[in-house]
Amino acid sequence: MPLVRAFAFDAYGTLFDVHSVIEACRAVTDDPQGFSLQWRQKQLEYTWLRALMGRYEDFWAVTEAALRFTLRRFNLAVSESVARQLMDAYLTLAPFPEVRGTLDRLKTYPLAILSNGSPNMLEAVVRANVLTGYFSHLLSVDAVKSYKPSPAVYELGPSALGLPAREICFVSANAWDAAGAKASGYTVAWCNRAGAAMDELGFTPDVEIRSLDQLPPALGI
Ligand code: 2OP
Repeated sequence: MPLVRAFAFDAYGTLFDVHSVIEACRAVTDDPQGFSLQWRQKQLEYTWLRALMGRYEDFWAVTEAALRFTLRRFNLAVSESVARQLMDAYLTLAPFPEVRGTLDRLKTYPLAILSNGSPNMLEAVVRANVLTGYFSHLLSVDAVKSYKPSPAVYELGPSALGLPAREICFVSANAWDAAGAKASGYTVAWCNRAGAAMDELGFTPDVEIRSLDQLPPALGI
């Protein structure tokens, strides 16, 4: 295991629970879980498709397009103000319960977020959860106008932190994101919250944990 000198966290699904929008979804559907799953899946698909198409739009626009698709898929017509409330839920997503404690354990290291989120979205969700002080960098794909798992995105970490990728532990709950970071040379911790199978992309994370509080012991720190 290489010496880890800094950490870069994925945001959505790793630090912040995207399914905390379920509460807001209750206002429009009696299947808020299904609605939230479809919304998240479409949001990710649109990032991959837009990256492949070379048609970048920021994550706010992608998230809104995915919401509009999901509303149609569920045959729901909602007012603009209700659509806005659903979108705004993304700015105040709840962190997973162990996030603050883990960041406290790691706060002697430079800590970054490296995310698909637009700069405004990242600043808002970090501020809403009073986590701003923990992070030296909020790195958004917006700087390279593409999406994970494009190598250009993962290059943002080493260049901002001034360290080789292998000395940065990239932490993600998304298996495909963990594979993407590994392909770019990071030391990778996959936070496999759901007990899922690792993606078959030819890259294996260095450590697999079930929640973020297992990260320091898994790295022996
Ligand atoms: C993120 O970049 C992949 O949604 C995930 O935060």
